[in-house]
Amino acid sequence: MPDIRVFSDSPAVARAAADDIVAAARANTDAGRPFSLVLSGGSTPKLLYQLLAAEPYRSRVDWPNVEIYFGDERAVPPEHADSNFKMANEALLSHVPLKPENVHRMEGERDPTEAAIAYGRMLKARFGDGGPDITLLGMGDDGHTASLFPGTPAVSETHHRCFAQFVEKSTTGPSWRITLTAPFINRSARVLALITGASKAGRLKEVLHGPRDPQRLPIQLVQPSPGRMEWLLDTAAAAQLPC
Ligand code: 6PG
Repeated sequence: MPDIRVFSDSPAVARAAADDIVAAARANTDAGRPFSLVLSGGSTPKLLYQLLAAEPYRSRVDWPNVEIYFGDERAVPPEHADSNFKMANEALLSHVPLKPENVHRMEGERDPTEAAIAYGRMLKARFGDGGPDITLLGMGDDGHTASLFPGTPAVSETHHRCFAQFVEKSTTGPSWRITLTAPFINRSARVLALITGASKAGRLKEVLHGPRDPQRLPIQLVQPSPGRMEWLLDTAAAAQLPC
């Protein structure tokens, strides 16, 4: 059975995710271990990032102990309106006392293939065969997650941790994307998929209750082992799921 929590609206989803992140970060600090968090792009996580940057959440996290990574990036410079780093930086990263060397952005301004190779090497150096503590994901209306778009080569990638590809039908139009691969995402101790809004309801039903078809529904590839996949939904996104 999928691990699903349904909340009244998107602010409630963001609060639940913030509570989970604060608790997990504190547990690592108490145990003397760094806490690694992979951020997702798109619009849904912005509320969560803004919550974490403000009280009462901000001062409950030992930010110098937190390592930030990204699930995907658009091939644009970090100051570009489409940059996932820009959104995360403005909503969260610039407001909390992270160590600059602990913020690992994908370099969207570089040649995408070179940027993906560099990111993969960095992940290998930092995690070895392991993975992050929490990976945040969203889901597009078409069933993509991170920049694993339906029918694209990244969906079939089994070896690399990070991959670059040109995507004809992406949310920002035909463009290059850099993305974590499913095998790396699946090394996460926990994946929190934040999915809100009525436009996701039909696809989410297919993803969770339809036949397995990850080429068409790439988010079905996310099955962390031995980690946990947790779905945090609002009532609109969950509307077509069986009770
Ligand atoms: C990106 C993403 C992407 C996103 C989904 C959902 O860079 O676009 O990381 O996978 O999470 O497209 O986007 P929304 O939250 O905007 O619906």
